[in-house]
Amino acid sequence: MAIENPKILTKNYGIPDSWTLAVYEKQGGYQSLRKAVEMTPAEIVDQVKAANLRGRGGAGFPAGLKWSFLKPNPPRPNYLVINADEGEPGTFKDRTLMELDPHRCIEGCMIASWALNVHTVYIYVRCELVLSIRRLEQAVREAKAKGILGDKLMGKDFALDIVIHPGAGAYICGEETSLLNSLEGKRGEPRLKPPFPAISGAFGAPTIVNNLETIATIPTVIEMTGEGFSKLSKLHHMKDGGVRLYGVSGHVMKPGVYEAPVGLTLRELIYDLGGGMRPGRTCIGVIPGGSSTPVLREHELVHAPDEKSPMHAWHGKSVFDIPMGVDTIRSTGSMLGTCCAIVMDDSTDVVSAAENLMKFYKHESCGQCTPCREGTGWMLRLCEKLTAGEATQEDLANLYDVANNIIGNTICALGDGAAMPMLGFLQKFRAEFEAKLKPQAAAKSAPRAQSHAHGH
Ligand SMILES: Cc1cc2nc3c(=O)[nH]c(=O)nc-3n(C[C@H](O)[C@H](O)[C@H](O)COP(=O)(O)O)c2cc1C
Repeated sequence: MAIENPKILTKNYGIPDSWTLAVYEKQGGYQSLRKAVEMTPAEIVDQVKAANLRGRGGAGFPAGLKWSFLKPNPPRPNYLVINADEGEPGTFKDRTLMELDPHRCIEGCMIASWALNVHTVYIYVRCELVLSIRRLEQAVREAKAKGILGDKLMGKDFALDIVIHPGAGAYICGEETSLLNSLEGKRGEPRLKPPFPAISGAFGAPTIVNNLETIATIPTVIEMTGEGFSKLSKLHHMKDGGVRLYGVSGHVMKPGVYEAPVGLTLRELIYDLGGGMRPGRTCIGVIPGGSSTPVLREHELVHAPDEKSPMHAWHGKSVFDIPMGVDTIRSTGSMLGTCCAIVMDDSTDVVSAAENLMKFYKHESCGQCTPCREGTGWMLRLCEKLTAGEATQEDLANLYDVANNIIGNTICALGDGAAMPMLGFLQKFRAEFEAKLKPQAAAKSAPRAQSHAHGH
């Protein structure tokens, strides 16, 4: 089947020197900013609302609604902070925008700043992304030299500076309030919310934190109008608009970053864009949106018997055949997250895969909240015991307990991001976990292993 493969966000990818101002302008760059500075801030926010642009950083919060939380005439300056930490395992989409189209990223920042009355933007970039940092810095320099940015934004009496701030490579600093602490030179630990950043964010001032892809989409929203952009999506009717970047990695023939309308199915992502499985292999599961999202299996069916439910249209279909959107994937018990799928074929040892993930979360837990600090360590040790063939039925029960006791009991979502995938693996691959138990422990639980073998 041919997949719609629009080139909107990625239209400059592959053009020689696409990261330079000259090429960007030749391709129509900065026309959206020119248009935006003739609009009022409220008009721009309305367009972003109409675009149904759901945040691309993982939580899927509507960008227009977030922007509308900033109060007019604040006592202190507003800040815009762009999250380009891109630390989620399996996620590698934002870096393509920064490397190949940095002017699109900063044009989005400029339009948002005009709309949000911001005079300083910080782009917080993971330090390992050296080329991204260099390209963004070069773009800012070029825009300043050309007078697009600086004391006057596109000739208007509006000063704007964009600061590129390298992070130090900690996953927790992608969480927006840890990011703000890190930006302020403090330890990268999440803050209690409320207050939310829109009330008290960077340096105590009202702040909007947006993902890099979210902001890089803004020039297109202004160019096409919000409604025009939203309608590109197959889930426009569910207020999940536009096109977005999809990632696919793991056991597929063509891993990479692809642009497609919101509402592509997992099957299309894996088999059409991702080139399908390796010869002779079958897919046993997919982590749909970065490692913090619970695994999905092809035989899981959408359950929405209520005719009034927006999901009813897909009732009885495989989760691989529903349009991927923030709300559709949430209704399966998983999450769309960063929209970057990790595909596992039947050569995968799922218990080792779970152990590997737990190693990551234990290492990256900042240690502020006890359930996450201790719980991630417990989950790792229990997974290690399983892979060593030393675990008992009680250990398996403890693994459930520990995971369940992390969820909802921490300041930020890192703990949930570790525990929910752990529970997903346990529930959906119960037989594989039981097969790793110590021989006598496994024998006792054989009938149970049977009943879980189909993911019920
Ligand atoms: C542990 C953790 C790590 C995160 N890492 C990132 C990240 O690397 N990039 C990102 O954009 N959002 C990340 N987020 C989500 C941010 O907290 C926040 O929701 C996002 O930057 C908001 O932007 P958006 O509304 O445009 O999506 C992370 C969240 C958590 C809990």
